[in-house]
Amino acid sequence: MNAEGIAAVLAGVRRLGRTVVFHDETDSTNTRALDDVRARRAADGALHVASRQTAGRGSGGTAWAPDEGLGLAFSVVLLDDPGAGPLPFLAAVAATDELRERGIDAHLKWPNDVLIADRKIAGVLIEALREKDRQAWVVGVGVNVNQLDFPPDIAHVAISARQCTGAEIDRTEVLGAIVRRMDDLSVAGDDLVDAFRERCRMLGRPIAAVRDGTPLSVTAVDVDRCGHLVVDTPSGGRETWISATGLDISPHY
Ligand code: BTN
Repeated sequence: MNAEGIAAVLAGVRRLGRTVVFHDETDSTNTRALDDVRARRAADGALHVASRQTAGRGSGGTAWAPDEGLGLAFSVVLLDDPGAGPLPFLAAVAATDELRERGIDAHLKWPNDVLIADRKIAGVLIEALREKDRQAWVVGVGVNVNQLDFPPDIAHVAISARQCTGAEIDRTEVLGAIVRRMDDLSVAGDDLVDAFRERCRMLGRPIAAVRDGTPLSVTAVDVDRCGHLVVDTPSGGRETWISATGLDISPHY
């Protein structure tokens, strides 16, 4: 993987991936992108890609497993305008579609996990910077591509594309395809909520979750226009979950 190859697969994109910042090795592409934004040297649509990411960050303060040149780790910068639709859905829908195109039965778990059956193949971490004169978002995406195994603590919950198909995949090609899909979805203003609903198998099903240590059993009913999850509770009530912070939703449903 190198900068020239990545620029070649992204030729002609309209916004996302117009500028490529390639890191042979870095701690976290989100951190690199955020540093550029804070220093006011980030271009809108800039794509940070790491061939090896040593200290990737996940949602809720978790870690994303270090990448030893087998997975994909990248972050896209959006300045001022986040584009149409809930931003968390953008990368998740694009990654799901690219995996499906490659014969992998990917589906979405709210708000932005990509699963194969009950195991995670891709995750998204969005970080925002708001100051009085400007706003920016960094959309960080991790995809398990060519891993043949995972560290013991996540081996039962993680899966890679190669474990699904048996074949090694060119990371640059899959990166280009996912970022192109994100660019198309974002620029065309496609309906990301409908796209998410169509790819999400939770809806209409009972789901188990833990919120701050308390187990919850609910039925996922819908994803609303803001991207929030609407659930029915056992007592007959209806709740809208606006964020997954502090929530651990089981992938078994
Ligand atoms: C999750 O917990 O599911 C989100 C994982 C997001 C990982 C990606 S890898 C590229 C980017 N850089 C990071 O430090 N995190 C995101």
